[in-house]
Amino acid sequence: MKIALKDVYELSQEDNFIDSSKFEKFKSRKRNLSGKKDLKELVNGDGDNYSFKTSDLEQLQGDGLIDELISIIKTGKEASVYLGKNNDQYRAVKIYTDIRVRSFRKDDIYRQGRFVGNQRIEKAIDQGSQFGLDAHQLIWVGEEFRQMKRMHSACIPVPEPIAISGLTIVMGFIGTDDGEAAPRISDLDMDVTEAKEAFRQSVKILRDIVSLGKIHGDYSAFNILWHEEKAIVIDFPQVIEIENNSSYKELLYRDVNSLCKSFRKYDIRSDAESIYKSLLRLT
Ligand SMILES: Nc1ncnc2c1ncn2[C@@H]1O[C@H](COP(=O)(O)OP(=O)(O)OP(=O)(O)O)[C@@H](O)[C@H]1O
Ligand SMILES: [Mg+2]
Repeated sequence: MKIALKDVYELSQEDNFIDSSKFEKFKSRKRNLSGKKDLKELVNGDGDNYSFKTSDLEQLQGDGLIDELISIIKTGKEASVYLGKNNDQYRAVKIYTDIRVRSFRKDDIYRQGRFVGNQRIEKAIDQGSQFGLDAHQLIWVGEEFRQMKRMHSACIPVPEPIAISGLTIVMGFIGTDDGEAAPRISDLDMDVTEAKEAFRQSVKILRDIVSLGKIHGDYSAFNILWHEEKAIVIDFPQVIEIENNSSYKELLYRDVNSLCKSFRKYDIRSDAESIYKSLLRLT
């Protein structure tokens, strides 16, 4: 049995109860990358009637980028992350949930300055039509992948961005050889020395992101994995570019404060104000 996107949605709805027999292997047909679903297709293709008819997973499978889904790492309201395999290598597969469960209204602050470059799409997004919502969702997920790639190429510790198809992102899996996903820093009870090191690395990542002209926008111990004594940041759809977004100070302030709050239980003496000020000088 192949797992199509709609099956995954259905599985995710089942009160987090996962019948592992449904995760049977589906074999990859190797072929070269074909054109991906993108905004151009949204405009030139099915237009207003655009919907995600073809399974993003099947496309990725057909492109030889994912062979099987093994288990769920985490389900969420907005996206679920699965453990997958490709050529015997583990992959993390993040599949966004249907647009209708998501309120994009609160995302306006992130949308500011994002270049869509097509007036029809801009208008549709503003009006909140179905077409606009589909476009918004595609842009949101596409932005996650784009930002991950940019950070990866700047050597910021993020999972390796491997592929995107529609609402599905395939990335490097962070975890053990047995397929156990790395914990988030928020899941751990570290000793003080380890916590200090994790905090140091987390602040450095924040600084490196700002140096790249970006703000993460949801930076806290919930979005930082801890693997082999290294911090790895995840979750990027809301990343903003400093030069295009006039709310960048507010977002940076929030990121610094969430990070410091995450580490407060370890009694680490961190001064959010001075970290914020020193980061602001980099902008
Ligand atoms: N590359 C990865 N390797 C291992 N685990 C991962 C990877 N990416 C994400 N995860 C796991 O999946 C969870 C959800 O991922 P992510 O934060 O990107 O999605 P999300 O929809 O924003 O979820 P949340 O609302 O919980 O933040 C992470 O907290 C982490 O446990
Ligand atoms: Mg997250």
